[in-house]
Amino acid sequence: MPALPPGYSIRRLEAKDYEGVVETLKVLTVVGDVTKSQFEELVKYWNDTTLHIGVHSLPVYNPHVVVDETGRVVATGTVFIERKIIRGCGLVGHVEDIAVAEDQQGTQLGLLLIQHLTKLAHDRGCYKVILDCDQKNVGFYEKCGYRRCGVEMDHRL
Ligand code: ACO
Repeated sequence: MPALPPGYSIRRLEAKDYEGVVETLKVLTVVGDVTKSQFEELVKYWNDTTLHIGVHSLPVYNPHVVVDETGRVVATGTVFIERKIIRGCGLVGHVEDIAVAEDQQGTQLGLLLIQHLTKLAHDRGCYKVILDCDQKNVGFYEKCGYRRCGVEMDHRL
């Protein structure tokens, strides 16, 4: 079972992570122009958006970062929790936007981040956790305990 390197930690994303998160996400896709104030507004929205189930309140958005011993963001990813009608109003976790800084790839950080997000979703009651990925990342997600299931499709403008 791999462990984070000494001094590294995984925690919920905070407004102060602006530069590090935007930079890290560039290994995944085009981030576009996101200002610091837009990022802060988004973090507040993520923090304020909760699901109420009985007496419990759960965050819907669960963005996380891995930081190194200097506090630099070296990986980021999120799990979004959806409440459905099926499965008795069951919960499903959606893993999204996983990115590990280029100079840290291949050191198990992606695996540890996925394990953390997957456990978080199951601990909050999700009966399954799903994600979409490129063919080239199938082997990585299989190492993380996921299996191929269904076909991803999209419709874009
Ligand atoms: N194909 C097959 N195996 C892989 C791949 C791959 N593409 N990438 C890693 N692995 C293997 C590793 O060899 C390792 O195996 P081992 O335990 O036997 O040594 C295991 O998977 C764990 O690898 P990590 O070191 O944890 O992988 P890393 O930290 O580099 O993270 C990731 C993988 C997230 C794909 C990273 O390379 C990355 O950020 N890539 C660019 C952005 C990206 O494609 N993100 C995923 C988008 S999909 C989504 O967001 C749902």
